[in-house]
Amino acid sequence: MAQADTLRRASASIDVSDPKLYQDDNWRPLFAQLRRDDPVHYCEASPFGPYWSVTRYDDIFQVELDHDNYSSSAELGGTQIADQPKGQEIVSFLRMDPPGHTAQRRTVAPIVTPSNLANLESLIRKRTCDVLDALPRNETFDWAERVSTDLTNMMLATLFDFPWEDRAKLTWWSDVAIANVDAPDAVVHSGEERMAELGRMAEYFRRLWDARAGAAPTVDLISMLAHSEATRLLEPREFIGTMALLIVGGNDTTRNSMTAGLMALVENPDQFDLVRSRRELVPSLVSEIIRYHTPVLHMRRTARNDVELAGRKIAKGDKVVMWYISGNRDEDKIARADEFIVDRAKPRQHLAFGAGIHRCVGDRLAEQQIRILWEEILRRDLRFQIAGPPRRVYSNFIRGIRSLPVRIVA
Ligand code: HEM
Repeated sequence: MAQADTLRRASASIDVSDPKLYQDDNWRPLFAQLRRDDPVHYCEASPFGPYWSVTRYDDIFQVELDHDNYSSSAELGGTQIADQPKGQEIVSFLRMDPPGHTAQRRTVAPIVTPSNLANLESLIRKRTCDVLDALPRNETFDWAERVSTDLTNMMLATLFDFPWEDRAKLTWWSDVAIANVDAPDAVVHSGEERMAELGRMAEYFRRLWDARAGAAPTVDLISMLAHSEATRLLEPREFIGTMALLIVGGNDTTRNSMTAGLMALVENPDQFDLVRSRRELVPSLVSEIIRYHTPVLHMRRTARNDVELAGRKIAKGDKVVMWYISGNRDEDKIARADEFIVDRAKPRQHLAFGAGIHRCVGDRLAEQQIRILWEEILRRDLRFQIAGPPRRVYSNFIRGIRSLPVRIVA
């Protein structure tokens, strides 16, 4: 007990909320220390106020499954370490508890049924081939822009049946929705600016929504939401929030996995050779990319009651942050967790998609897009050089890579 207290005191000043940690990619030692010495750690003071960090795999899982005690509600602060600004909360079913969450989630879930995913397979493959075949050879280009952003953007436009010529707006609104307004290179610089831009997004979507509400139902997210009892009368803030959730959910995560995957394979040439020689490993490769990168760094909950976790007493109202990035590197659960290994025995055992009632709706779609990308890269036997350092995003929520200079060596 005395030793545990000493270790806890030694960790007392650890604040893992600083976005710079992720921009500079310096987070590993701090989380390793927390997992070892104080796995459910209370940080008394941070720019986001006091908060608990949950850093081990099993403890994160426990919080995820206990939605009675750990709330996602926007009114209590939402799902990010930064509280939702009062009066400007962006509400969506991600930031709701049952029963509201249950009904709204059920509305969009059919977009990713196995049969709909099977229908999308050839379209995703065709677009992936077109993008890969248009890339220059022996010339440096930005993989994040030319491949990752373009492919995820086209997919998103398909899911919404969004006007093709305007589809760049989807990426822009996703960037706006998650921008850290304090970052020097942020696309918006204040909460007000963000809300104004998202208001324009809402206007655009409202026109599409009204047209589809008046037409026969089709298999796209807007039509599904416009025709469902649970969502057809969403009030404006919820409408904005739901659109933003679907755009960010489908965009940033998959796009960053596509960039991070290339980096991981080029940095681990033995693993690249292994999938080249054993193509049946591609599904495991996809899961490993998503685990290793962990595009969503954390989700936050707020304690509804006094509750105990791993021997620590969490008080009603406390902020509880589940650091997926740390749980996915927990050696007690995942052997050689800091290494990139494409033939793991249990590749889907990771927390990057969360767990429990809020587990990612789009997990299979994301895996499908990344799988097809790698199948087509391997079919072409493309060889890569990383031509410069990645430019990472200043955020403690999304682990993003804004640009990655790459050459395909013919
Ligand atoms: C590699 C890609 C992706 C990752 C890593 C990812 C990660 C996550 C995470 C961590 C959550 C929260 C889970 C929790 O709180 O337990 C989530 C929720 C969600 N994701 Fe994803 N996501 C990805 C792709 C997608 C795609 C492609 C879509 C949609 C097309 C999507 C839509 C959603 C939605 C709607 C939710 C809210 C679910 C709920 O609250 O019930 N995601 N995702």
